[in-house]
Amino acid sequence: MIAVYPGSFDPVTSGHQDIICRAASIFEQVTVVVAGNSAKTPVFPTDERLEMLRAVTADLPNVTVDVLSEGLLVDFAHARGARVIVKGLRAVSDFEYEFQLALLNRSMQPSVETMFLATSTEHSFLSSSIVKEIARLGGKIDGLVPDAIVPLVLRRFGRER
Ligand code: PNS
Repeated sequence: MIAVYPGSFDPVTSGHQDIICRAASIFEQVTVVVAGNSAKTPVFPTDERLEMLRAVTADLPNVTVDVLSEGLLVDFAHARGARVIVKGLRAVSDFEYEFQLALLNRSMQPSVETMFLATSTEHSFLSSSIVKEIARLGGKIDGLVPDAIVPLVLRRFGRER
């Protein structure tokens, strides 16, 4: 079964990496999809977000990385034969928005189901926004993002070591 795992990934965090690895162990094929979120302007250009995701998924043979530059995620998923949208849930606060998206997506494309993976507890506090805030203020982001992308994130904020 093919699954898509969409997000802004601005930047990819250790929490995202955990969900990607766990999804890759469940589904035959996982496509990580860099998608725009109309509510947020990304800090990292799309090509950098793709580059970071490629580095993070290089060791996972059944994971590919793609971009949704226009159109609906469900149409993208359907066109690629994906039956599942994977989402990570950190807390109840994520649930309301994610539940709304899941219901909307299913109403638009009933053949694609949303499945939620609960975050690992050590990542429950983590978000791309928190990572950006810490990096911007000169804090340490080791452990918050995958090791391979720490330099890329620091560079974007002029904080390279
Ligand atoms: O990491 P984010 O910002 O929470 O991800 C949100 C994302 C990209 C998954 C969501 O905005 C999305 O699915 N965008 C794709 C466009 C789409 O289909 N929008 C309609 C959903 S009802």
